Formats: sequence, C-alpha cells, structure tokens
Amino acid sequence: MNDLDPNKTLLISPERIQKRVGEMGKEISEIFLGKDPIFIGVLNGSFIFLADLLRTISIDCEMDFIKVRSYVGKESSGTIQLIKDISANVTNRHVILVEDIIDSGNTIQFLRERVNSANPKSISVATFLLKPEIAKINFQVDFIGFEIPPEFVVGYGLDFNQKYRHLNGIYRLGNEPA
Ligand code: IMP
Ligand code: MG
Repeated sequence: MNDLDPNKTLLISPERIQKRVGEMGKEISEIFLGKDPIFIGVLNGSFIFLADLLRTISIDCEMDFIKVRSYVGKESSGTIQLIKDISANVTNRHVILVEDIIDSGNTIQFLRERVNSANPKSISVATFLLKPEIAKINFQVDFIGFEIPPEFVVGYGLDFNQKYRHLNGIYRLGNEPA
C-alpha cells in the first residue's frame, strides 16, 4: 500500500482523530488535575497518539516509554517479551498506560501487571483504538478513542510489517466495504 495504492480504505479521517484526541486530553486533564500523572507510551505503535495526546493535556504531567514485542502468527499468542522497560520510577505515581490498539488484550494485560509490580498509586489505560469483539480483558479500559470492527488497520502509528505508521488517518487494508 502506498499513496497510489487503490487498496486502502479510510476508516477514520485525520480530522475525526484530532477532534477525538482533543476530547480525550480534556477529559484526562480534568480527572488528573493536581495528580501529576505519568503517561507511559507503548512502543512503537503509540508514539503518534501519545505525541498528539500530550499536546492536548493542560495539567502538569510526565511521560516515559515501554517497549514490548508480542509473538504472534496471525493472532496474538499471548507470549510477550519486554524489550525496553520504563526508566522512570512510578512507585506511588498515577500511571496512564497509552496504547495504540487493544486487540486480544494480551499486551495491555501484561503491561498492567508489569507496572503494577512497581506499586503505583493508580494505573489507568488510554487506548486509541479498541476492537471490542476481540478484546477479552478483565479490567476497565478508562479512555477509548474509537471502537472499531475486528479487522486489521494501519496508520497513525499502527503498522503492517513496520510500514504505514506515518499515515495521518486510520486505514483498513483491502478495499472491501466494512
Ligand atoms: P493485543 O492482541 O491486544 O495484545 O495486541 C498486540 C499488538 O498488536 C497491539 O499493541 C498492536 O501493536 C498490534 N495490533 C493489534 N491489532 C492491530 C491492527 O489492527 N493493526 C496494527 N497493529 C495491530
Ligand atoms: Mg502496540
């Protein structure tokens, strides 16, 4: 897929994304006022969402990154490897985990447990996308950008074989209607 490839279907426009991210930032700013939260972006996928979200935050906050690799074939296997741990000390801090997408939920489940072992004051989850028909998680996802059907999407940080992260919108691979 490239700019000339007809097989890309826009699912969420850049305009809708920016509007929704602004709403999320406003809500998070209200809820965490005076709490100095630390946002932890999950690399690589969340880097664009985190960058946009942070610029809509109107309260004191900090940020860090964590990197994991999930060994998946065509589906999430549940085997997750920690590539880069957080550098910040999150003990007694309000942590907001920032994900690009929750699919099976295995990655976010792993990350919550990892961060929880450092005894934070609270852990919240902000995900740009959620596939509600697939995600099987036993905790609340606090902030959700968009719920999407169970199909593979790219753009706005999300990749297919490391490509297409730079696209401003969210695209479905293939041009068949939803
Ligand atoms: P999980 O199944 O919730 O553990 O998701 C694992 C990871 O797979 C996510 O953090 C994404 O990086 C990636 N992923 C899941 N669904 C998609 C998709 O539709 N497009 C691109 N990446 C995806
Ligand atoms: Mg990811």
